[in-house]
Amino acid sequence: MIALASDHVGIELKRHIIEYLDELQLEYKDYGTYTTERCNYPEYALKAANAVANGECEKGILCCGTGIGISIAANKVKGIRCVVCSDCYSALLSRQHNNTNMLSLGSRVVGKDLGLMIVKSWLDGTYEGGRHQVRIDEIAEIEETGTIRGL
Ligand code: RB5
Repeated sequence: MIALASDHVGIELKRHIIEYLDELQLEYKDYGTYTTERCNYPEYALKAANAVANGECEKGILCCGTGIGISIAANKVKGIRCVVCSDCYSALLSRQHNNTNMLSLGSRVVGKDLGLMIVKSWLDGTYEGGRHQVRIDEIAEIEETGTIRGL
């Protein structure tokens, strides 16, 4: 299950992503917003990020104007590793090396076609583990304790 969320600026791109996920027959849950009425992206980032963090959804995709604000908000939720991407290479590598569990896109930055290519690259990427896990564990330690082995 893929968690989706956007603000009013990102909603159109989110609708394209929904159509794409339908084509791929992938399951998703849309945590809003559901209209183009002006809203505050942290509220929707929080709902989708909580769903990923508590295991209700495996991963999540977010959209706002730049992808930045909604990703910053999502990354405040413990256990979330959300990447903002405007290229396919970063999207893929963020899965392979950083085990990102959320992707964020800017509707004012990428159009429909590039946005969907980035989604595909991200969904296709598989975490490689190994040496990368040590770094992911250090990130988690910062989140948990505010430091890494007392540095
Ligand atoms: C809304 O105007 C805009 O600030 C928002 O969509 C996003 O780009 C924030 O990072």
